[in-house]
Amino acid sequence: PPEGAVPDPFAATGLTYDDVLLLPGYSDFAPAEIDTSSRFTRELELRTPLISAAMDTVTESRMAIAMARQGGIGVLHRNLSVEDQAYQVDLVKRTQTGIISDPVTIGPDATLEELDTRAGQYRISGFPVVGADGALVGIVTNRDLRFTPAAEWATTRVRDVMTPMPLVSGPAGISREDATGLLRQHKLERLPLVDDAGRLAGLITVKDFVKSEQFPKASKDAQGRLMVGAAIGYFGDAWQRATTLIEAGVDVLVADTAHGHVRLLLDMVERLKSDPATRHVQVIGGNVATRSGAQAFVDAGVDAVKVGVGPGSICTTRVVTGVGVPQITAVYEASRACKPAGVPVIADGGMKYSGEIAKALVAGADAVMLGSLLAGCEESPGETVLANGKQYKAYRGMGSLGAMSSRGKTSYSKDRYFQAEVTSDDQIVPEGIEGRVAYRGPLSAVAHQLVGGLHQSMFYVGARTVPELQQQGRFMRITQASLQESHPHDVQITAEAPNYHG
Ligand code: XMP
Repeated sequence: PPEGAVPDPFAATGLTYDDVLLLPGYSDFAPAEIDTSSRFTRELELRTPLISAAMDTVTESRMAIAMARQGGIGVLHRNLSVEDQAYQVDLVKRTQTGIISDPVTIGPDATLEELDTRAGQYRISGFPVVGADGALVGIVTNRDLRFTPAAEWATTRVRDVMTPMPLVSGPAGISREDATGLLRQHKLERLPLVDDAGRLAGLITVKDFVKSEQFPKASKDAQGRLMVGAAIGYFGDAWQRATTLIEAGVDVLVADTAHGHVRLLLDMVERLKSDPATRHVQVIGGNVATRSGAQAFVDAGVDAVKVGVGPGSICTTRVVTGVGVPQITAVYEASRACKPAGVPVIADGGMKYSGEIAKALVAGADAVMLGSLLAGCEESPGETVLANGKQYKAYRGMGSLGAMSSRGKTSYSKDRYFQAEVTSDDQIVPEGIEGRVAYRGPLSAVAHQLVGGLHQSMFYVGARTVPELQQQGRFMRITQASLQESHPHDVQITAEAPNYHG
């Protein structure tokens, strides 16, 4: 506008998922050829472009493990102490689909009673037996208990029942092929790994090997461990949180606030990407909803930009503040800054159905972050609750009163909403609600439907790969009447579908 003129506030119209449909395109290939791999950050790719939200009712270690196994990734929430969040990272990194680098062990002088308790505590059936100097002295399993009457467990020592050295073992750093060979040749359940000095250096179990074959799409780091992300802020101990998470082995840090176009957060990203101690880790910044917001993160050196101000199912940011951008437009605008710089875009929040994943990718995203669609999974934190004969799980906004108030414990999530310095709970201005979603069973089944939906979208658009989908996908803007036509109508649904919930 000319200087001094008021810009036309109605010049731009924002569109969201329900405002558009994708046009069908010509498909000259078989559905089996479709590949859903997509970029996640500058340096990382996911076979399944799904990310579980950094929320305390969505992602802790169990969800992060399940997401990584499906080829996606989980971002551990930050409403936890630094130590607790780092411990969650550690749990994911230890859940190896191949080699356990730091197995649970037992000493030769432990009693069988202690062995039994330890087995129950860690839910494992056998242990390498390790002496005080760390040397492997034997291996013991539940089966070794069987030949000792329970009455004698309190007085019998592990050393009396274990299989002592020499044992079949492998060198630390053994290849997958060699390990498989040894397991097969000696019909072993467990293969201990030892270093040159005879100290235990790892453990391979047949079970873990089988598991890794069950998850062919799993997201893994260079050492074969599952990948995991974790959210951080900009306030207080944020730097210490970031470095502690890096020490624990986190793959991706998500500098995460409700409004990311903020000097303090951009400074945090810049520091993370320039400090020699941290710059090797991928950093995602967000959330933004405009081209200039995304550009600011690109200029700060970020590895991906997360987009979404107020689209989330539990968000009240737009009604409490009047600020936000409908999500399709927000993703498109952000991608205009990110695409030329080769920085991936993550569409965060507002997804209700699988069809919206492809819509987000066509609008300019490379991956999507999900909250409500995953909060009902078995692997999300919290118990299922029964109400009116149906099972539910709690789901709440990180800006809800429940997540931001202390209610007897420290809230670490207030700075996401720039209220870190608010000390009294009744002074908090919430930007989210607390609720529940229907229980949906294991993530594997939920992810199957979401990825299956994306597969179908790609086939209907005529795209074999995500880059093809992004290039070929075309939107048509629809009316409210068309949206009504899109959903089931004029019938009473009599059986619940696994991917459609009224
Ligand atoms: P969905 O729609 O998938 O959204 O449930 C998840 C995303 O919502 C954001 N989020 C919030 N936004 N107030 C907000 O305005 C909140 O309390 C809140 N909690 C989460 C967040 O980006 C998440 O990934």
